[in-house]
This record gives sequence, structure tokens and C-alpha cells, in this order.
Amino acid sequence: MARRQRVLITGGAGYIGAHTAAHLMDRKFEVSVLDNLSTGTRDALNRAQRIAAKDLDFYEIDLRDADATINAVRAAQPDVVIHLAGSKSVAQSVESPEEFKINNVQTTVNLISAMGQCGVRQVVFASTASVYGEPKTGDPVSENDAIAPESPYAQTKVTSEALLNDFGRAYSASVVHLRFFNVCGAHASGLLGEATSPATNLMPILMKRSQENAPSITVFGTDWPTPDGSCIRDYVHVEDVVLGIRLALAYAPRIVGHEVFNLGTERGSSVLEVIAAVESATGRPIQARPGPRRAGDPSRYIANCARAHQILGWHPQWTLTDMAHHAWLWQQSSAS
Ligand SMILES: NC(=O)c1ccc[n+]([C@@H]2O[C@H](COP(=O)([O-])OP(=O)(O)OC[C@H]3O[C@@H](n4cnc5c(N)ncnc54)[C@H](O)[C@@H]3O)[C@@H](O)[C@H]2O)c1
Repeated sequence: MARRQRVLITGGAGYIGAHTAAHLMDRKFEVSVLDNLSTGTRDALNRAQRIAAKDLDFYEIDLRDADATINAVRAAQPDVVIHLAGSKSVAQSVESPEEFKINNVQTTVNLISAMGQCGVRQVVFASTASVYGEPKTGDPVSENDAIAPESPYAQTKVTSEALLNDFGRAYSASVVHLRFFNVCGAHASGLLGEATSPATNLMPILMKRSQENAPSITVFGTDWPTPDGSCIRDYVHVEDVVLGIRLALAYAPRIVGHEVFNLGTERGSSVLEVIAAVESATGRPIQARPGPRRAGDPSRYIANCARAHQILGWHPQWTLTDMAHHAWLWQQSSAS
């Protein structure tokens, strides 16, 4: 009988990581998680184990600690690493770029060094749509488009991708970069979801506000060249992202070097459409107050995912309505 594939998830106690852990345990992978619990939680790991009715190995390690990272990778002996750990707040990256660089780039260097020393030759990396910067046209963004990071956050992802590409070349290793668009939603059971304190993305903010009396939100710009005047983004359900990660795991052994895939739905939703979806899921009206445009906000940002469809066989299944419905289940059951 074939040995189960061993996967180490860095950042596995976080939003995407815990969903990934639950999904992979359910698919008979042996899962280890490495996390420093800076934004991730033990509760998320417990919930992932409950969903899958399986146990995982947890290493409470900070990737900034090179020795501890090597020890954890050596102990976990993974066939493949899914590298999700890092900081993701663009605003925080602008406020403290150096700290941010250490937590996203130095950690990647430490992980690569540990993988190199421990013989791990496959890695799937959580990159971001923001590496493309502000689109010059409203056309969907594809992997061949120019890289033009505009925030320190996006720059750390570009640098990490490059470091991992060097690793791929040096060790004849397999490196798959997944550039996520706007990940949202929650596990369909409502048992796992995105932390909403602090809430920084649109849907978690709306979920949190929906629990307040007379919820309202400021819409930054209602005069954009879009059908309803608000900005359009590509929202993708976290469970579809997890499916993309699993397909990337299956694909990685077939390549030497690196490849890049966008993960979005190719369907843009405007801010007002997201508000409407949340209102419909919660049954609570939200007052949308028109506000000024924010500098640097593109009017429209949508993925072209032809590569992921054709090469990985990835086809996202969940809609915006599902994202809002599942996020509300989660919000009611457990978010604070
Ligand atoms: N959520 C999105 O919409 C989105 C979009 C694009 C890319 N991404 C990327 O996907 C990855 C996961 O995002 P998420 O939404 O699950 O974020 P998250 O904050 O919920 O998860 C990140 C995890 O990494 C851990 N971590 C942070 N620094 C660490 C360190 N030094 N050592 C060990 N663990 C550390 C945190 O404790 C947390 O569990 C991130 O790299 C993020 O940049 C997310």
C-alpha cells in the first residue's frame, strides 16, 4: 500500500491554513503544522481536527528562528511544504516595512534553508494578486502580466517567489506559486472561518458590522467607471483556494523549477454587490455611505485563471452568495 503523503503547512493555524489542514487530513494526507500563533490560533487547529476527525502534529515555532525551523522540518520529514505563514496586512507593511520584510522574507529564507538541508524538494507557496500592482486596463490579470508591486507587502511576496525560484533551480526542486485574489468565506459547516478582530478585508468587516445595531459602511468611491460606480474585485471562496492548493500538490511532482497560477473566480463583484450578498445572508440591512475614492485603488481587478483551469484542472465552485452565507454561519457560531 502506498505511503500517505506527508505535508507540512507553515501558517497552518491561520485562516487559509486551517481550512487546508482540515481538507488534506480528510483526503488522507498526513499533516503537520508549523505556526507561531501570531495571528493563527490553537482553536483553529482544534476545529480543523474536529472537522476531519483526525489528528495533526503541531510545531509551535517561529520561522524567524532558523534553528528551530530546521529542527521542526527535520522532525516533520515532509514530502512537500505548503508555505502560507507570514503577515498579510498591506497597511501594516506600509507602517513597518522592515519588520514586515523579516516576517515574510527572512522566514522564507529560513524555510528554504531548512528544506535544502532536510531533503524537501517540493513547495507550494501562497503568493498574492497584488504582485501585479495596479492594472493598466480593466482586463483580467494573467500570469504573463508585468510584476509591479506597489506595497511593501506585495514586494515581500515578489522577493519570496524569487528566492523560491532560486531554490527550485539549485536543488532541481518543484515550486508552485499560487497567486490568490480576494479570499473569503468559511467552511460550509460554519466551524472554521476568518478571524474578524481585527477585520481588515471587506467581507469580514461586513460580517462584524452586521452584528451591530444599525450597521453601516463607507464605500470608497461610488463614481468609478463600473456599472454601479463601486470598485470591482475578484472574490474567491477559501474552500476553492484549498482545492487549488491540493491540485497544486498533485501537480508539483510533475515539474522541475517553478510555475505560477492565479486563483480567482474570473467573476468580478462590486462593493455594492458584496454588501447586497451579505445583507441577503444575514437578513440585516447595511447602510452604504458614499465616501471618497482611496488613492491607489484600481476600479476593477479580476483574475484570468486559464492556466489553473487548463493545467491544474481547477474550477472554483462556490459563489459570492455561498461566501457570504458560510461566513455568516461562522460569524454567528464563533467569531468574536
Ligand atoms: N487571505 C487572503 O485574502 C490572501 C490573499 C493573498 C495571499 N494570501 C497569503 O496567504 C497566506 C495565508 O493567509 P491567511 O489569510 O490565512 O492569513 P493568516 O494571518 O490567517 O495566517 C497566517 C499564519 O501564519 C502564521 N505566522 C505568521 N508569521 C509567522 C512566523 N514568523 N512563524 C510562524 N508562523 C507565522 C500566523 O500565526 C498565521 O497562523 C499569507 O501568506 C497571505 O499573504 C492571503
